[in-house]
Amino acid sequence: MEVIIAPAAELAVLAADAIEALLRRRSDAVLGLATGSSPLAVYDELARRHAEAGLSFARARGFMLDEYVGLPAEHPERYRNVIEREIAARVGWPAERVQGPDGLAADLEGACAAYEAAIRDAGGVDLQLLGVGTDGHVAFNEPGSSLASRTRIKTLTRQTREDNARFFDGDVEAVPHHCLTQGLGTIMEARHLVLLATGRGKAEAVHRVVEGAVSAMWPGSVLQLHPHVTVLVDDAAASRLQLADYYRQTYASKPAWQGL
Ligand code: GLP
Repeated sequence: MEVIIAPAAELAVLAADAIEALLRRRSDAVLGLATGSSPLAVYDELARRHAEAGLSFARARGFMLDEYVGLPAEHPERYRNVIEREIAARVGWPAERVQGPDGLAADLEGACAAYEAAIRDAGGVDLQLLGVGTDGHVAFNEPGSSLASRTRIKTLTRQTREDNARFFDGDVEAVPHHCLTQGLGTIMEARHLVLLATGRGKAEAVHRVVEGAVSAMWPGSVLQLHPHVTVLVDDAAASRLQLADYYRQTYASKPAWQGL
C-alpha cells in the first residue's frame, strides 16, 4: 500500500495523472467511479484535461460503485445523475458506456447479479477510485460487511445517512435507507485501487483502514490485502497515521518518473 500525504489539490492531480496514463495506454480502459465529495477535484481535473489536452473517454468504460435504492430517475442525488453531471457529461463520455447498479429495478437482486456480470464481461475494472466513509465504509459496505461480499442490497447506517444529508438539503429523512453496492470482494478484483480522503473527519477512518486490523468493523481495511493500492490523503486526514513520517519520507524520495 502506498500512502501519499499531500495538499488536496496535488492529490487530485496525482489521481488524474494515473487515470490519464491508463487511458493513453489503453483508450478502452475500464474505470471505477466513486461518488461523494472526495473524487470531485479529480473529476474537475479530468474535465480540464479533456477540454485543454484532448484526453478522450470515448472508448473507455465506467462502472459506478453504488446507487441509492428508490430515488426517482430524475432525482439530482441519484448517483447515476451525479456521475453524469460531475464527470461523464463534462468529458464527452457516451452515456451507454457508463453503468451503475439499477436502484430502480423491480428485481433488485437480479439487478445486482446483472451488474456483477456486466463488470466481468467488460474484463474487470482497471482503476477504481474510492472514498471512505467516517465509519470506514468503502462504496456502501457498512461496518459488518463480509470482506468477500459481492454487489448486493445494503441498509445504510444512521451515521452514513447523517453524513450524506448535506446532499439532501440537510434533511436526514430524505436520504434513502437502502442502496445497492459493489461488495468488498467485487472492489478487491479491480486491478488498482486509489482511495482519496481529505479533512480531519476522515482521520480515524484512514488510520483504521490503513494501519488497523483487517476487520469487517472497518470495511476499508480489507484493502490491506490488495497488491496495488494507493491512498491519497491530505495533512488533516493523515493526522492519526502512526507511520505518517515514514510515508512522507517515502514520497519525498520517490523517483519523478514513477507513477502511482
Ligand atoms: C458515500 C459513498 C461512498 C463515498 C463515501 C465518502 O456515502 N457511497 O462511495 O466514498 O460515502 O463520501 P465523501 O467523499 O463525500 O466523504
